[in-house]
Amino acid sequence: MKFSKVLYLLVALAMIFVVVGCGASTTPAPAAPAAAPAQAKLEYKDLTVCYPQLGAESDWRTANSASFKETAEQLGVKLVFSDAQQKQENQISAMRACIQQEVDVIALPPVVEDGWDAVLTEAQDAGIPVIVVDRSVSADESLYAAHIGSDMVVEGQRSANEMNRLLPDGGKVIELSGTTGSGAANGRAEGFRMNLNDNIEIIDSQTGNFTTAEGKPVMEAFLKKYEGEIDGAFIHNDNMAIGAVEAIKAAGLKPGDIKIVSVDGTRGGFQLMIDGWVQADVECNPLLGPQVMEMALLLANGGTVEPKEQLTNETIYYPEEAEALLPERQY
Ligand code: AHR
Repeated sequence: MKFSKVLYLLVALAMIFVVVGCGASTTPAPAAPAAAPAQAKLEYKDLTVCYPQLGAESDWRTANSASFKETAEQLGVKLVFSDAQQKQENQISAMRACIQQEVDVIALPPVVEDGWDAVLTEAQDAGIPVIVVDRSVSADESLYAAHIGSDMVVEGQRSANEMNRLLPDGGKVIELSGTTGSGAANGRAEGFRMNLNDNIEIIDSQTGNFTTAEGKPVMEAFLKKYEGEIDGAFIHNDNMAIGAVEAIKAAGLKPGDIKIVSVDGTRGGFQLMIDGWVQADVECNPLLGPQVMEMALLLANGGTVEPKEQLTNETIYYPEEAEALLPERQY
């Protein structure tokens, strides 16, 4: 190779070295990937909880709504509250609006047991955990994160035990049932039949939709149809018992002529016991706000509720203690 060619090659190599070398000295070495910031833990103040309340049909329900609103306020949780007026389609629309809004958790008190699969699946697909509150749903439990509420079957069993005690020689009873298709009405009816003595016959069962306004005419109709035959009444909540007692009074009957077992343990139920109309009131606790908010925070932070079924501890109230306990009743 000629000397000029060698020189040319050496110059070219030197230039390449300078360019590559300069580049290396001015281009910063790629930074080591930053450690992913630890997922910040959500606090109550960061939480948005949706509560598509089923309605305002009873004093129990009013106390339940108040429990959610007061707890949210105290904790600083943003509560998206609505009233479905006892209509499942309204609850479903409210849930869909909450899914759109990307709330953190939905707490659902289902008006009836069936028909929730589609909207529960939508919530799950959107990554929003659902806590079923109060009444149960028939949907597969993989579709919701937890259920918190009363054991409605046990309430029915307790009611039957009380009726057995009140009618030791047997008799005929009527049932004033809650909203048709609701977990509360289904469970109470089932439990009542499980424990009722064979010598007690349920001669009729009609719904009063858990309201005083609807309970009264149903009882009026029973009294007309079975005049002088009714020994006992199993009434699925205190508001219907208030309506039923109005009808019984109007029919000229006295306290105790028809033995009444009611459910809830509201102030209204306590007053009926004090006045002698109701002989036992099986508790159903509506004050679920604090427990649900605690669960919501856990779920929003990626936790799970174990076991999924969280049942409330409840008791039975009697006339003898009603007067002393009434002033302390919160609902
Ligand atoms: O689901 C709970 C029931 O619903 C209560 O017993 C009743 O009062 C309410 O309306």
